[in-house]
Amino acid sequence: MARLRLGVLISGRGSNLAALVDAARAPDYPAEVALVIANEAGAAGLARAAAAGIATRLISHRQPGFEAMLDTALREAGIELVCLAGFMRVLSAAFVGQWRGRLINIHPSLLPAFPGLDTHRRALAAGVKATGCTVHFVSDTVDAGPIIAQSEVPVLPGDDPARLAARVLAAEHRLYPQVVRMIAEGRVRVDGDRVEIR
Ligand code: GRF
Repeated sequence: MARLRLGVLISGRGSNLAALVDAARAPDYPAEVALVIANEAGAAGLARAAAAGIATRLISHRQPGFEAMLDTALREAGIELVCLAGFMRVLSAAFVGQWRGRLINIHPSLLPAFPGLDTHRRALAAGVKATGCTVHFVSDTVDAGPIIAQSEVPVLPGDDPARLAARVLAAEHRLYPQVVRMIAEGRVRVDGDRVEIR
């Protein structure tokens, strides 16, 4: 069976990208990372992907036509699902519209709680006893599209943002490949603002 072709967009470290690449090493995994695009030259994940033999592109958001270049690169590579993984640019409504239903993001909180940046510090300040991560379809509003899956992580006594982030990140690395698998297997259906998993 043909594997679903993933395009992964990153801006930095790329540990979620690495989790997807690792998952796709299994012969029965139904998706493959076909292209990695970074908008920052210093993105560590870019070099790691290239070293793993994956096609990579650097497309800076500082150049005119950034989104058109992204779109062209993804289409030319035959990408079927775009995974944002620590991609620190907000994509326009036009781009999101072109890829609607084929564009997902991972966010380090249990949305709709704590959208945006600095989630772990804000979760600790709010005194929540659990947080986690969310994979969702991207919509026109940042961190607000239909939720596909979430993983809950406890907040423990003595946590600081770094300790909590590390615990949530480990959950992210499990959740993102699981969600991609479900999509690749055709088990995910969007119904308005809600997602049904079969
Ligand atoms: C992750 O916490 C992800 O949820 C958020 O940005 C971070 C990216 O980390 N969107 P990495 O680049 O995948 O290591």
